[in-house]
Amino acid sequence: MAAKYQAPRGTYDLLPGRAALRREILAEARALLQGAGFGQIDTPVFEDSDLFVRTVGEATDIVRKEMYTFEDRGGRSLTLRPEGTAPVCRAYLEHGMHKQPQPVKLWYTGPMFRYEAPQSGRYRQHSQIGAETIGSDDPAVDAELIDLLAHLYARLGLPSVRLHLTSIGDPATRAEYGRELREFLLGHDVFDEDQRARIEINPMRAFDWSAPEIVAVTEDAPKMIERLSDADALHFDEVRSLLDAAAIDYELDPRLVRGLDYYTRTVFEFRSESLGAQSGIGGGGRYDRLIEQLGGPATPGMGWATGLERIEQVLADVRGEGAEEAAAQQDTPQFMFIVTEPDARPRVFRAMSELREEGIGATMGLGSRSLKNQMRAAERLAVPWVVIVGPQEWERSAAAVRDMTRREQDEIPLSSLRKELLSRGR
Ligand code: HAM
Repeated sequence: MAAKYQAPRGTYDLLPGRAALRREILAEARALLQGAGFGQIDTPVFEDSDLFVRTVGEATDIVRKEMYTFEDRGGRSLTLRPEGTAPVCRAYLEHGMHKQPQPVKLWYTGPMFRYEAPQSGRYRQHSQIGAETIGSDDPAVDAELIDLLAHLYARLGLPSVRLHLTSIGDPATRAEYGRELREFLLGHDVFDEDQRARIEINPMRAFDWSAPEIVAVTEDAPKMIERLSDADALHFDEVRSLLDAAAIDYELDPRLVRGLDYYTRTVFEFRSESLGAQSGIGGGGRYDRLIEQLGGPATPGMGWATGLERIEQVLADVRGEGAEEAAAQQDTPQFMFIVTEPDARPRVFRAMSELREEGIGATMGLGSRSLKNQMRAAERLAVPWVVIVGPQEWERSAAAVRDMTRREQDEIPLSSLRKELLSRGR
């Protein structure tokens, strides 16, 4: 029977197997980032619409056609956050973090919302892990953040992840370069009306278009990396030499275009070959003007975000079938109680409750299913210990305790059940 209601288009339900995989990713990320001095921050899923319009940029696809914007009952224009950097910078200012020792290092995880055309690896609600270092323009910040993300992928065992890297300099130099690039592109006869209009708004988008006749033109186009100011070029050189020192491989990619307007200087993207069309698995860059744009003091910042669904997809591919199940089995209960003698239920229920008090996980077979049936369930759950109380055990005031790995079983008196199970459960 087809369900009457389905998850909205472009969204999905995170079921226990995939959720276990996600927990594993989050545990790695947390250990890595907390270990590098990042504190966790959690901002609301909606913000004033204006926050994103001003920072992500009026001309970007995100602001022009992808935001979930609505008016609340008080007439305020709110937007479900399409990304996490602007909210973190808003919180940095709101909580006076600019008065703390700099830089301030923050990480976050949570859902983001973009009204995009759904396809494999592209959702209307997706989840990110992100990290931001605010308050230092030291190139070591850029290199450290990139190194951290590379390590996250390596620790998770993601194969063939490639780093694309470039610098887009400061807004003034970029505006000048934009004029030069626009003029160059519009001097060629390969663009249609719509493309010409988009070149007028942001000529760098042309580097994203893959028609061969366009690529032929953009290959020859002047590149931002060749127009950097001395200070920006020096900054970028230092980032590269630190990455080299850490043996982080990257491809210098002057065609790299990020979909957000707040970037300055270093920008980067990690791509995974196994992802197909939506190959961007994580990306970020510097945003040295963003805090100022929000009305704060001039404060440099740098960060990245990586998509959880895309990491999960690669992990599920490389680990093969059963990856989700294997992840889920890492936190199954220690004990499963199978009680086929109804009179024994209250006594066993108490024993389970006592185990929980000690922090030991236990579950009980429910209803009146046969012993065989319930043993099968225990095997499926991969529970290490099964405690059986049938009519015979109950008559002897005892329980059979079965070691599921060794396939051995012994009987213990109910009076010492708690002590016995505690010693086995640890
Ligand atoms: P972003 O590149 O727009 O950057 O998104 C980061 C990551 O989120 C992408 O690399 C991708 O893995 C994932 N992602 C984005 N959109 C979708 C989608 N529709 N479906 C599934 N996954 C998606 C940012 O959001 C910046 N805030 C990153 C940043 C932090 N820059 C500086 N600090």
